Amino acid sequence: MKQKILVTSRSYGRYYPDQLERLKSLGEVVYAENPPLKEDRLSQIIHEYDAIVAGLDDYTAKVLEKAERLKILARYGVGIDNVDLKKATELGIIVTYTPGANTIAVAEHTFSLILSLIKNIPKLNEAAKRGEWGGKRELNRELYGKVLGIVGLGSIGRAVAAMAKGFGMEVIAYSPRVKKEDAEKIGVKLVSLEELLQKSDVVSIHTSYSPQKYHLIGERQLKMMKKTAYLVNTARGELIDEKALVNALKNGDIAGAALDVFEHEPPSPDNELLKLDNVIVTPHAASHTWEAVRRMGEMVTEDIEAVLKGLKPKNIANPEVLERSNIRVKVK
Ligand code: DGY
Repeated sequence: MKQKILVTSRSYGRYYPDQLERLKSLGEVVYAENPPLKEDRLSQIIHEYDAIVAGLDDYTAKVLEKAERLKILARYGVGIDNVDLKKATELGIIVTYTPGANTIAVAEHTFSLILSLIKNIPKLNEAAKRGEWGGKRELNRELYGKVLGIVGLGSIGRAVAAMAKGFGMEVIAYSPRVKKEDAEKIGVKLVSLEELLQKSDVVSIHTSYSPQKYHLIGERQLKMMKKTAYLVNTARGELIDEKALVNALKNGDIAGAALDVFEHEPPSPDNELLKLDNVIVTPHAASHTWEAVRRMGEMVTEDIEAVLKGLKPKNIANPEVLERSNIRVKVK
């Protein structure tokens, strides 16, 4: 039977058509309509596919149970919180992802958001285009000497820390699994989440998401922040209680926020965060650079090619699956 490959990522193959051609040489490639696909839609179609270039769809246990032919689920991105990894392993499905491919893209996007917030770039851009050059206007702030608090000192958090050092910032982090000595080597002091929230002028979130971290930043945490502080999230929307954030922004508990991610994407047009003056938003676009899209595309293409040819993929997220007797394709 001819292999069928589903693509639910919006950017895969669009900017680097050679990657798509490589995939097409392995089988029929189908682009999903209106991704990310929710559980119901995905459950209806997943049984047809041998491989998936996966965006941010719901790969729940219920969906994976229906994936009768699926040999490889190649997550086009670094976050695998939308995949039930345990279930995939149990079913003998190989899951891959693209660690490191978008580290710089996300770190640079984070820094653009931080700078846009403290320099009021969106408002000044609009004012200048309206011809407003003089008059009394809000003053901007400087990063030099300020404290950046990083929640999650993984590769993206570390890249953001290095950039912050270049701006003369003091960097502290909350990252329970990182060793104190390892953080010190890169000039970062590890602190509790409470201390980080109390001391930081900018809080930037870079932790992966798991249900235990649902609404890690809620009303109580927002109240601990300085009234002049900014909150930036380029990780996952579920990490912040959006209702509490709206209240904090309206009440002046914090100065502003910049968000690339939302709990429900795309956010509903009624979402108040889209309307507040002290909020900057981007549409989950932090990893959308030519460089990151090329790297992510290369990694998923190579891994799908490998598995469909019976070889071991490089970027496996569930290595235990290789030991299972029910693995869908024996790889060596
Ligand atoms: C990631 O890498 O997980 C980004 O959120 C894009 O999917």
